[in-house]
Amino acid sequence: MKLLHTMLIAAALSISACDYSPKSSLGFRLPDGNAEKGQQIFAQYQCASCHVIPGRDDLKIDSEPKMSVVIGGMTTQVKTYGQLVTSVINPSHRISRYYRSEEYSDDGVSKMRNYNDVMTVSELIDLVTFLQSQYEEMPNY
Ligand code: HEC
Repeated sequence: MKLLHTMLIAAALSISACDYSPKSSLGFRLPDGNAEKGQQIFAQYQCASCHVIPGRDDLKIDSEPKMSVVIGGMTTQVKTYGQLVTSVINPSHRISRYYRSEEYSDDGVSKMRNYNDVMTVSELIDLVTFLQSQYEEMPNY
C-alpha cells in the first residue's frame, strides 16, 4: 500500500514537472487575429499552390497545384491553435501519417516552403486565425 502511495506521488510529480519544464508551451498565446486578413495572406503567399481547403474553390490558384494537402473542412479532429502555428513555422515537427510519403516529405523533412524569414508575426497571427476558421468539427453520432 505504501509502495502504491509512493508511486502515485511520483506519477503526480512527474506530470506536473512535465508541464512546467522550460521547453513546455504552457502559457503560449498569440494575440487574437483577423481571419479576413489571414485569407489575404493565404493568397499572397500562394499556400494554395500545395493546399486545398474543401469548399473554398475561390482560393484555388489557376496553375496546376504542386500538391493537394488538405487544410480545414469537416473533421473529427479539429487542429488546435498550437498545432496550426507549429505547422506553419516548424512543419517538420510532426508530419501527419498521411504525408510521410516521398511526395510530401524527404527523410522526415516536410516539403512545405519555409516562410520564417519572410512572414511577419502579425501575418502569422492573422493567417492562423483564418486557418482555424476553416475547420468544422464533425458531429458524433
Ligand atoms: C511547396 C508546398 C507547400 C506550400 C507552398 C505550403 N505548404 Fe503547407 N504543407 C505542405 C506539405 C507537404 C504538408 C504536409 C507535411 C507536413 O505536415 O509538413 C503541409 C502541411 C501543412 C499544414 C498541416 C496540415 C495537416 O493536416 O497536417 C498546414 C496547416 C499548412 N501546411 C499550412 C500552410 C500555409 C498557411 C501555407 C502558406 C503560408 C503553406 N502551408 C504552404 C506543403 C506546402
